[in-house]
Amino acid sequence: MIIGVPKEVKDHESRVGITPAGVKALTEAGHKVLVETHAGELSAFTDDEYQSAGAEIASSAHNVWGNADMVVKVKEPIEKEYGFFREGLVLFTYLHLAPIPVLTEKLLEKKVIAIAYETIRDKADTLPLLTPMSEVAGRMSVQVGASYLEKEKGGRGLLLGGVPGVPPANVCIIGGGIVGTNAAKIAIGMGAKVTIVDLNLNRLRELDDIFNGKVFTLASNSYNISRAVQEADLVIGGVLIPGAAAPKIVTKEMVAKMKKGAVIVDVAIDQGGCIETAKPTTHSNPAYEVNGVVHYCVTNMPAAVPNTSTLALTNATFPYVMRLTQMGAKKAILSDDGIRDGVNTYEGTLTCEPVAVSQKKSWKAVRELLA
Ligand SMILES: NC(=O)c1ccc[n+]([C@@H]2O[C@H](COP(=O)([O-])OP(=O)(O)OC[C@H]3O[C@@H](n4cnc5c(N)ncnc54)[C@H](O)[C@@H]3O)[C@@H](O)[C@H]2O)c1
Repeated sequence: MIIGVPKEVKDHESRVGITPAGVKALTEAGHKVLVETHAGELSAFTDDEYQSAGAEIASSAHNVWGNADMVVKVKEPIEKEYGFFREGLVLFTYLHLAPIPVLTEKLLEKKVIAIAYETIRDKADTLPLLTPMSEVAGRMSVQVGASYLEKEKGGRGLLLGGVPGVPPANVCIIGGGIVGTNAAKIAIGMGAKVTIVDLNLNRLRELDDIFNGKVFTLASNSYNISRAVQEADLVIGGVLIPGAAAPKIVTKEMVAKMKKGAVIVDVAIDQGGCIETAKPTTHSNPAYEVNGVVHYCVTNMPAAVPNTSTLALTNATFPYVMRLTQMGAKKAILSDDGIRDGVNTYEGTLTCEPVAVSQKKSWKAVRELLA
């Protein structure tokens, strides 16, 4: 099979779909990998490294898309890539089709087999290709929050861990899932006083065990949240209700009562945010202030650390890339429930129910289609 790896073209996207290590494994398995020149540059992988691993370097996106049987990307294609779609092409990437009807239409029209990272499920019923980015964003949220607590950046001028004789900062993490747990690890490591709020009491029990008394856990209700954010120097939003917009559990009234110079990092902003005063920002202009509280609400935090993020993402995606190339898309889809869940469009048919529901389109399960 010929596998194509184009350079990402979405604004500020610096990750890449396959690393030199992946190229080596694919070429050793007898496949050909076409990598667009400079595709890995922002993730710190040079054309030379790809070539040494066995890739052929293509001079343009056109050469990659035009010759590949399967294209492996990171972000959903944008308008200037739609012209590359063609019948029989397998596309493996984050797609987030629900809010992009025009991309859905183009994939259907050109009969692309489009498999989305974000809808692949594993046997534990989790979303294994979303997890690594939540790990990155969770860890990064504390790093970013600590930086915005500095006076120069508009913060209270606090060192997260304090020093002997001076108390550490209070970090309140709302949502104790993957983002929240990873944020807690870093905040504890930096010496902060950490509180985790979650709706799920069993999750709070697990966190209490995992962190062995190093975090305070709080049941999520507006009374507890209101008190916790008022005391906090850094609030991290990591709530998720799968498939739904994030609930606004920190209200603007609660934000108004926060300390001046406190910092909010709303990681859940990609789902609309769980802080009422949060609005999406970009890496070019990541933070703003409301009532003297600094808000950092970047929707694609992992893009700031593309080397780590690319490695973390491809560690998770690569086994699926290998299965798709070794078996061929149709066989892999038929034999692997997780990959089947990932199929969003198949040769002109919409195969993902949530996308169909949100776009009011008809759909058919890929299992029925291939039966
Ligand atoms: N901004 C970014 O760059 C970026 C990157 C990765 C992930 N995210 C987002 O971060 C969010 C969290 O992701 P995750 O992987 O940690 O999800 P997760 O499912 O692992 O965790 C979410 C947690 O929120 C809890 N929760 C739900 N409702 C709650 C409520 N009312 N009060 C308190 N807790 C509540 C759940 O019980 C769960 O423990 C998602 O919106 C995800 O898309 C953003």
